[in-house]
Formats: sequence, C-alpha cells, structure tokens
Amino acid sequence: MNRFNFLAFLLVPVLSISANLQGKNSEPVVKEVLGDHNGSEVSLFTLTNKSGNVLKLTNYGARICRIDVPDKNGVRDNVTMGSETLETIIKGDAFGGAIVGRYANRIANAKFTLDGIEYNLPVNNRPNTLHGGRNGWFSKVWKAEILNNSKVPAVKFSYVSPDLEEGFPGTVTIEVIYSWTDKNEIIIDYFATTDKRTVLSVTNHAYFNLHGAGKGYIFDHILKLNASTFTPFNAVKIPTGEIRSVKGTPFDFTVPHPIGDKIGETYDSVVVDGYDHNFVLDNKGKVNATVYDPVSGRIMEVLTDQPAIQFFSGNGMMWKKAAGTGSNAVKTRSGFALETQHFPDSPNHPGFPSTILNPGEKFKSRTIYRFSVRKDK
Ligand code: BGC
Repeated sequence: MNRFNFLAFLLVPVLSISANLQGKNSEPVVKEVLGDHNGSEVSLFTLTNKSGNVLKLTNYGARICRIDVPDKNGVRDNVTMGSETLETIIKGDAFGGAIVGRYANRIANAKFTLDGIEYNLPVNNRPNTLHGGRNGWFSKVWKAEILNNSKVPAVKFSYVSPDLEEGFPGTVTIEVIYSWTDKNEIIIDYFATTDKRTVLSVTNHAYFNLHGAGKGYIFDHILKLNASTFTPFNAVKIPTGEIRSVKGTPFDFTVPHPIGDKIGETYDSVVVDGYDHNFVLDNKGKVNATVYDPVSGRIMEVLTDQPAIQFFSGNGMMWKKAAGTGSNAVKTRSGFALETQHFPDSPNHPGFPSTILNPGEKFKSRTIYRFSVRKDK
C-alpha cells in the first residue's frame, strides 16, 4: 500500500462516521465541564440544530442558559436571561431557566394534608412555600445524558428526590428531556414516578425577552393567551379558589395586546402592578400562548398539556450578566415567564385539578417553546 492509499484507507472510516452524525444532527451536542459544585460536576451543553441555531443547557437545576434565534433580518440573538459560567449560574436568579419542582408556584402556609397526614414544608415566601422550597429542584445538580440516538440534539437530565425532601412525601424520580428541533422548538418532556402518594407540579421557569436578553423592557411584546379564565389570589398570592372570567378585566389576553397596556390600571380595588397570575388554559395541547415582538419580528409560541400557565411579567426581577458585581444589570420587567403548570396551591384546593401522583403511575407531560419570525411587519 503506497502512502496515498494508506492515508485514504485511514480517512474513509473517519469521514463516514462524521457523515452519519451529520445525517442525524447537524452537530453533536457539545459538553463543556464548568466545574464542581459540592462534589458534583456541573456542565454546559451546547445543542446546535440544522438551522445553526443554538440552545445551551446546564445540569445545575436542569436549566436553559441560552437560546440563540434569528430576528426578521436573520440576525441571531440570545432571547433568554440565563448564565453560562459556574459562578453566574449558581449566584444568578435561583429559578431563571430552571426546572422547578416538586411544586411550581405557591403552597399556602407551607403545608398541606394528604391521606390525613399533614406535611410541613419550608417557608421561603412568607408565609408560603414557593417553587418547591428553599432547596428545590432548581438548586440540585442533575445527572445528564446526551441522547446520541435522538434525531435532533437532545439531553436527558434526571434526579432522584428522596422521601421528605423539602417536606414532600415519597421518593420521586424525575426525568426531563430537552430536544432542540430544526424548526427552533424546545420540546421539554417530563417523566416522574413515586414510591408513595405525593403531589407534583413541574415547570420550566425561563425568562424571555424577544428583543434579546438585556435589551430593554418587554412592555411592547404582544401577548395572546388562550385563557378565558384565571384564578384570582389573596394578598399573599394564594388562589381564593374562584375561577373567574377574564372578560372586561386587565387579564384578558384572548385578544392580543401589548403586555404593558394595562399595567398600572386599577382592578378589584388594587393596582395591577404587573402580571403574576395563573391563567386557566382553554385548549390543552394546542397553541396556548403567542408572544410577538414587533421590533425584531420574533414570535414565541407555547404549547402544553398542562392545565394552566403562570404569566409573570418579571415584576421586581433583577438579571445580572455578571452575578455578584451588578454590572450589566437589567431591572424589573426586562423579561417575562410563561410557566406551564397545575394551579398554584392545588393540594389545599380539592376543587382544582388534582396534582396527586400515585405509586405505579407514570407522570408524563410535554411543553414546547417554538420560535419563528414574522417578516411582513
Ligand atoms: C412567581 C413569582 C415569583 C417568581 C420568582 C414566579 O413564578 O409567580 O411570584 O416572584 O416566580 O422568580
């Protein structure tokens, strides 16, 4: 074998392996180890789809760190308020981009009763429990697995939550798969099982700004929510139990309008100081929410099989690109969240859809965040 043939012999298998990979994913998922947190490895996963757009994830809180998608001129920008270094991820917004569990949003007075037993939870949003407690799933280092056999770039995160973690009964095994499709959809698949009767409501808590993260406020984003009712709450944001029509209220997004239009209006004797409300979805599994940014032309659609969405207009939020230094800080309402979920405080409201998970049952749920552009306006 002469030298040329020998080289060709070596190169053929190498090229065909990369061709195979390209057939499946435009690029394999790239893992970068960021460092160590309490003895566990924290990494950043970069998923690139066939359109060349990028989704970055980390196993700290199984969270979304970055979403690069084009505007109407084809210019890519990051539309989520996340972080990409170990320090900024851990010191940054506790919930931003993370998987929140065991119970998304609030549980009144930090307790609930199930089968006659009262379970006491940590108080981290006086007098309630918010987002699964002080050390909820957003603060755990999850196991990560790149799914090489998936048709699109995908990563599976899993975590075993021990019995009575943050006060909740049962050992719960949770798996979350993020898939990044060539149509710029983040598909989030949730799977959970328990060994004892328990309650569960999981969500992703990403903040979005379709202008680009850190590029101003979200007041001009036009929101449509396919929700004709919402759950009003008391002074500490616990649902009163009522399911009220949005008609004639500042909560009516069935007809699309800018997010900022009605902030500051008085309703029910209180000023609507931004949105932080649970909207009951009319059509589960269809397009439940659409956000359009007239400046960039970017559109984000949300589809879920969950019964509700928490629309949070980033009231009081503070996002710092460099956590701890305050530099590049952007303030309140520079991002919004659309958290797909069960109703807040359901374990204390027998009239709300049940959040009970039984041993032997498999909890399965899917939420999609889909990005596109409108070029005509
Ligand atoms: C809640 C807000 C809370 C925020 C914290 C939202 O899901 O509804 O009340 O302040 O999360 O990030």
